[in-house]
Amino acid sequence: MTNLIMPHGSNELNTLYIEDELARASMLSAAAEMRTLEISSAAAANAVMLAAGYFNPLTGYMNKDDALRVSREMLTMDNLFWPVPIVNLTTDANSLDYTHGEEIALKDPNIEGNPVIAIQRVDNVEKLSDEDINIIVTNVFGTNDDNHPGVKTFKEQGRYIISGSIEVLNYSYFPSDFPDTFATAPQIREMLTKAGWSKTVAFQTRNPMHRAHEELCKMALDRLEADGVLIHMTLGKLKEGDIPGDVRDSAIRKMVEIYFPENTAIISGFGFDMMYAGPREALLHAVFRQNAGCTHLIVGRDHAGVGDYYEPFGAQDIFDQDVVKNSLKIEIFKADHTAYSKKLNEVVMMRDAKDHTKDDFVLLSGTKVREMLAAGQELPPEFARKEVAEILMAYYQKIG
Ligand code: ADX
Repeated sequence: MTNLIMPHGSNELNTLYIEDELARASMLSAAAEMRTLEISSAAAANAVMLAAGYFNPLTGYMNKDDALRVSREMLTMDNLFWPVPIVNLTTDANSLDYTHGEEIALKDPNIEGNPVIAIQRVDNVEKLSDEDINIIVTNVFGTNDDNHPGVKTFKEQGRYIISGSIEVLNYSYFPSDFPDTFATAPQIREMLTKAGWSKTVAFQTRNPMHRAHEELCKMALDRLEADGVLIHMTLGKLKEGDIPGDVRDSAIRKMVEIYFPENTAIISGFGFDMMYAGPREALLHAVFRQNAGCTHLIVGRDHAGVGDYYEPFGAQDIFDQDVVKNSLKIEIFKADHTAYSKKLNEVVMMRDAKDHTKDDFVLLSGTKVREMLAAGQELPPEFARKEVAEILMAYYQKIG
């Protein structure tokens, strides 16, 4: 039996999904008598992550004190390391009427008809002030700029914060939209155990993988002498312009099938909306890969970034803070900017090619890639594998 890394903050992995079908059915009928609340997509994604064990050892949504301390110090009031607030925020002022201990039915905003996704036992309902919101967003996203997609989404959720434990009745749209890719943390642990991997490096991605990403995974495998790589993709909501999950999924599968040695990569995904919180989100990524049994996480350039809000390697530096080092067992594989070298005819980390100038590399920005595909222009083979480029081209031609 493979010995996997311990989960974060507890010995056993705590999943909030109700496994027993009869119990779920009876909770669902009980929910019909409860007050209901249609929650935000972010709160629903939090429920899915809690259900799937990725947010172990949390048992529900944080209150205002926890959210503020997590934002400022990355610790809950109980001194658990946690990098971003996990909250249920609403614009609905009627939520102030909920009583302590009341059970409310949370409705899923992402599925037609808004079925109940979870039942929350309300601990408290508080109102966040402008100053509270400012503290949260400036600490978590590094900015209070409404043009930042994560800040915008956070603020749109509202300022009434409903804390309390939850029990989750389904994984929202993820299992039906991504039947072969969505997996829970215990399922990933099972896959790793079955593969006999005890040293697994996780690769977080919200993008199709180009040659730089492929090589990053292979370099990490090689340099860490890891048993395998878990390519673990974001399946939740993304900002406009990002490649949709199903297109990315098939591009990644194609690449792995052709270009990875057998039994070195597992492809899977998790149901969470992208926050674009850069360094703080990288920490969250590490927490939930540890919960999924991975020993390492690749953190490269502008991890979970957007625009130029973050330092290119800020998501690596944050792992050097004492509170992080003292809390996480998972380690990171720090990747430098990686690109194809025209001199060496291979993908390299720039720091390993000291005699190169910028012009010696094939560098394309995400924007440039999108423009080329939209214009029907082929991507250079040094940048993208032909089979991956074809899938992306088909998508861009379809959306026009
Ligand atoms: S993320 O927002 O999900 O982190 P993305 O899919 O773009 O986005 O990146 C996945 C991982 O690859 C991140 O760790 C990122 O830092 C890293 N990465 C992407 N491109 C490069 C590159 N050219 N050089 C180094 N690291 C990179």
